[in-house]
Amino acid sequence: MSNSPPNLTRIKTVIRAKTGVIIDDKNEYLIGSRLGILLEENNLSSFDELADVLAGPQDSPIFKKFLERITTHETRFFRDESTFAALVEQMIPEWMERNRSFGGASRPLNIWCAAGSTGQEAYSIAMLIHSKFPQIFPSLNLVSTDISETCVERASAGFFTDYEMNRGVSDELRAKFFVRVSDKGYNISSEIRSKVEFKQQNLLVTPYAGKFDIVFCRNVLIYFDLAVRKQILEGFQRVILPDGFLVLGATESPTGLLDSYVVRQFGLTRYYEINSTNITFAPAQMR
Ligand SMILES: C[S@@+](CC[C@H](N)C(=O)[O-])C[C@H]1O[C@@H](n2cnc3c(N)ncnc32)[C@H](O)[C@@H]1O
Repeated sequence: MSNSPPNLTRIKTVIRAKTGVIIDDKNEYLIGSRLGILLEENNLSSFDELADVLAGPQDSPIFKKFLERITTHETRFFRDESTFAALVEQMIPEWMERNRSFGGASRPLNIWCAAGSTGQEAYSIAMLIHSKFPQIFPSLNLVSTDISETCVERASAGFFTDYEMNRGVSDELRAKFFVRVSDKGYNISSEIRSKVEFKQQNLLVTPYAGKFDIVFCRNVLIYFDLAVRKQILEGFQRVILPDGFLVLGATESPTGLLDSYVVRQFGLTRYYEINSTNITFAPAQMR
């Protein structure tokens, strides 16, 4: 083998085409550290060869492992707590108010966690709504999707290690919604588990199905370039109901990428009202 650095152009192109994830010069090391094992395990001699294999069938074990390894799954219960405060103090009360004014008090609340990783985000929402809005909980529709099948399987299993529990679950919620099942961790209660539908979904594949009052898409757009972010945000715009909400990660924003939204604020937390029926001047003037 030559000692010159491998040419990573083709594998980077495949990574972007299949996942949206951008590998630039600064994080090129991720290719070796995360995908190097796939070369060893599959007797491939270069990342170009791996790129050829990954351009093939997407249901192969190597493709699944590639998705699993190249994406970042970091999450935790009640990540960015102020976002959840905004949900219960502002978004849901407003949704209830609007719903009442349209005479539809029993309409289900539809929430989608796009790129929900191993389920902590959706389960946090379900536990909060159960606790704070028990009247809404029975008709809540909550979907969580992720590109990674392994994440979806883990989320569906509803098992969390002590380490994961210690990242965000209060003693009160632990007692109310979890059952210890081994010396390693807990199962979430069947009432909360059965409230969330977990599905595998690649956000690059549009249009999206369904209609939602609130879409959470947090801490994933940062991995994509502007064109992919725009495509995804436009996809959300088509499935978010009038005056519905979009919740992004703390460092993410639709500015310059989406044309119909109003910035909403709760403390330091920002979220976005999409397809607003209240727009009286253009979004660009509102920032
Ligand atoms: C850093 S985690 C964020 C999880 C959660 N939203 C949160 O904020 O805690 C990002 C998730 O996005 C998923 N992901 C990456 N690319 C994706 C794509 N193209 N379509 C859907 N999910 C994707 C990853 O598998 C990962 O689980």
